[in-house]
Amino acid sequence: MKVTLSVIKADIGGYVGHSGMHPRLMEVAEEKLREAQESGLLIDYFVTRVGDDLQLIMTHTQGTESETIHKLAWDTFMAATEEAKALKLYGAGQDLLTDTFSGNVKGMGPGLAEMEIEERPSEPVIIFMADKTSPGAWNILLYRIFADPFNTAGLVIDPKLHPGFTFEVMDIRNNTLVRLDTPEETYDLLALIGSIERFVIRAVYRRLDGEIAAVASTQKLSLIAGKYVGKDDPVMIVRAQSGFPAVGEILEAFTHPPLVPGFMRGSHFGPLIPVPFHFSNTARFDGPPRVIAAGFQLAEGRLVGPRDLFDDPSFDRAREMGNLVSDYIRRMGPFEPHRLSEDEMEYTTLPSVLKHLENRFQKLED
Ligand code: 13P
Ligand code: 13P
Ligand code: MG
Ligand code: MG
Repeated sequence: MKVTLSVIKADIGGYVGHSGMHPRLMEVAEEKLREAQESGLLIDYFVTRVGDDLQLIMTHTQGTESETIHKLAWDTFMAATEEAKALKLYGAGQDLLTDTFSGNVKGMGPGLAEMEIEERPSEPVIIFMADKTSPGAWNILLYRIFADPFNTAGLVIDPKLHPGFTFEVMDIRNNTLVRLDTPEETYDLLALIGSIERFVIRAVYRRLDGEIAAVASTQKLSLIAGKYVGKDDPVMIVRAQSGFPAVGEILEAFTHPPLVPGFMRGSHFGPLIPVPFHFSNTARFDGPPRVIAAGFQLAEGRLVGPRDLFDDPSFDRAREMGNLVSDYIRRMGPFEPHRLSEDEMEYTTLPSVLKHLENRFQKLED
């Protein structure tokens, strides 16, 4: 049976500030998706959130980029935004960049990751959801999971993983796409995906048979809106076991928190820490950036789960390291590399400061 797993998310109002989500917004989303399930449109759904981002996890048979499913997500976000406005939550409707739905939520503000798959006899999937960062944050993690044999033992010892994986990489500045095969093209891949604000991994495929292994959201709000409106707070879906990396190999990648762009005002580097669901609210300096992992078994499209996969002492050290790194980098205040590079600030908050000082810059004689 072919099943589509759609994860569509948006920040439609924070509680308090950008730190978390008011339970009422999740109730509204829950009501909307329950109706859609009762009408037969959805097989199953799960509503959750990370920090101030509302996550709609849905299964159905409409395929990816289905107008009906996207409209359902859009209408759900709009309905929850009404509640957010009534409660005067912070940045109500923040990520909904237009008033009217036009066929696909792509380019309208929400982020999405979708895959259509033929369910295996057992289909474990992990949905990662991050707050206070941008899609390039996944690059190093996807690389570790699917191309680094020091992370994923299966790349060396499992015949189905051994042929490697194909990475689909987007150049989000030029809106182009390139496919690179690992292990042969590892160095080319790394040359690109090390630039996390420009090159973003969109999907990963198993080379053995071309099966999709992972898909990530790539939407950059600032590029869509032309100004800073909030961070993208990306999501990704990763399939596990039986010819894909094991759950434990996938999770292993998160034991070393990478420095990612986001944190306060979306303008600073900070460590991405793996946290259990109950720690998904951001705090210090609107961070540190964080990620939750929801594990499900799919059963004819039913979402059996979630299991809260970072709710485990084996991630305590990663969180400690993240706190230590935050202490260290925070002391740099407004200096790079804590503050993002000038290039990146161009898309965020620096232009208004430069504009304000425009007339005060004097020409120097050579
Ligand atoms: P599978 O090949 O069945 O995914 O087993 C891997 C394993 O035993 C570690 O989880
Ligand atoms: P969000 O993208 O999570 O809304 O955060 C925005 C921000 O500016 C935090 O300081
Ligand atoms: Mg917000
Ligand atoms: Mg957010």
